[in-house]
Amino acid sequence: MTTWSPDSWRALPAKHIPQDYPDAAKLAEVEATLASYPPLVFAGEVRKLKKRLSDVAEGKAFLLQGGDCAESFKEFNPNNIRDTFRVILQMAVTLTFAAKRPVVKVGRIAGQFAKPRSSPVEKKGDIELPSYRGDIINGMEFTSESRMPDPERLLKAYGQSAATLNLLRAFAQGGYADLHNIHKWNMDFVGNSAQGERFEKMAERITDALDFMEACGINSSTTPSLGETEFYTSHEALLLGVEQAMTREDSTQPHQFVDTSAHMLWIGDRTRQPDHAHVEFLRGVINPIGMKCGPSLEPDELIRLIDILNPKNESGRMVLIARFGSDKVADGLPALVRKVQQEGRKVVWSCDPMHGNTLTANGYKTRPVDRILSEVTQFMDIVGAEGAYPGGVHFEMTGQDVTECLGGAQEISEQDLSDRYHTHCDPRLNGQQALELAFLIAEKLSGAGGLAMAAQ
Ligand code: TRP
Ligand code: MN
Repeated sequence: MTTWSPDSWRALPAKHIPQDYPDAAKLAEVEATLASYPPLVFAGEVRKLKKRLSDVAEGKAFLLQGGDCAESFKEFNPNNIRDTFRVILQMAVTLTFAAKRPVVKVGRIAGQFAKPRSSPVEKKGDIELPSYRGDIINGMEFTSESRMPDPERLLKAYGQSAATLNLLRAFAQGGYADLHNIHKWNMDFVGNSAQGERFEKMAERITDALDFMEACGINSSTTPSLGETEFYTSHEALLLGVEQAMTREDSTQPHQFVDTSAHMLWIGDRTRQPDHAHVEFLRGVINPIGMKCGPSLEPDELIRLIDILNPKNESGRMVLIARFGSDKVADGLPALVRKVQQEGRKVVWSCDPMHGNTLTANGYKTRPVDRILSEVTQFMDIVGAEGAYPGGVHFEMTGQDVTECLGGAQEISEQDLSDRYHTHCDPRLNGQQALELAFLIAEKLSGAGGLAMAAQ
């Protein structure tokens, strides 16, 4: 293999990176500006996340990774950030309590803007325009001006990411995430539901336990970990120009490069060709790396990719995110897990139950909640049956009361989809549906008929 440098990917073929910027010089100028800006995350945090993920790889913790399919400029406001964060907290505390193990919390947030699209163009009637590719590239409005890639958007996305991360850090460390505030995390529209009530019951038990510990002299002052949490960020590393600009050599450890745009980056199912640009770029940065694994991935190819991305078999470096679909996971996943086990590669197995379960109903792109839950259940059984540990989930959700995914305890029907369908890209779980998912995983990890591995 040739030597890596932050720009060595530029010599290789790259899919899904826009080539149609009208002004290449302007793009280069903006990338240079980004390279001069402060990092969003720093190397010590990235190493800490890797350590946490290595606990997951060993079956001692669980990875919860979720957030928007795509962040947008329009929906950028503090309430949205808070509401996404509180649902993730609710899911995390549910898993921590019910499955009795630490949860590593990673948001798809503060940088999740760029989207690979199945078609480069979109047609409406006789008019054909470039597809919308995420607010960091072009606009959603169906006009030729809006669909033109604009480099200025990179700077706007940087600013939004910085402000989002700033608020998340404040929430995580500044008191909002204190376990003593657990009753405040339930949102009204969740509180009145069956899931919300279930959460309230659990919250009462936690509060009881906290009161007991308080009487024993243990509280958020004596034990700061009760009062705060670690929250990490992630996004798909798609726009390599931006990722390169945000990549810095660690001043304390020369020759170690950190992509400071987020703690964790992942490679999509459509950009994981071993000899292409995305794999080349990510092999050279020290961040934890996720890789989406879908039905087209063969076991030998998977090992080849792991060897490129994690040649030293470092624990906590690789997160394999299975995204098959509830009807395909039983066919495709066992061979991958078996191969990785046989070859002794240290990985975290995570399940993305969203992207293989998308369909169109009543003119809307949607996902049935029962298929989402079914894929997670099958995933956990399959990975466990191969003697590995099903260590995480990767999902698309929002704290808003949307109607984008079908079914769930609310029984959202095809007719209901139009009520509050707001996504810029893929359909997301709402707060209630996300809680339902958390309860299901907690049951699988802990309950009767739970996993053999969970006992370790
Ligand atoms: N610090 C612990 C953790 O993050 C406990 C904790 C504090 C917590 N606030 C939380 C757990 C909110 C889940 C959600 O795991
Ligand atoms: Mn998506």
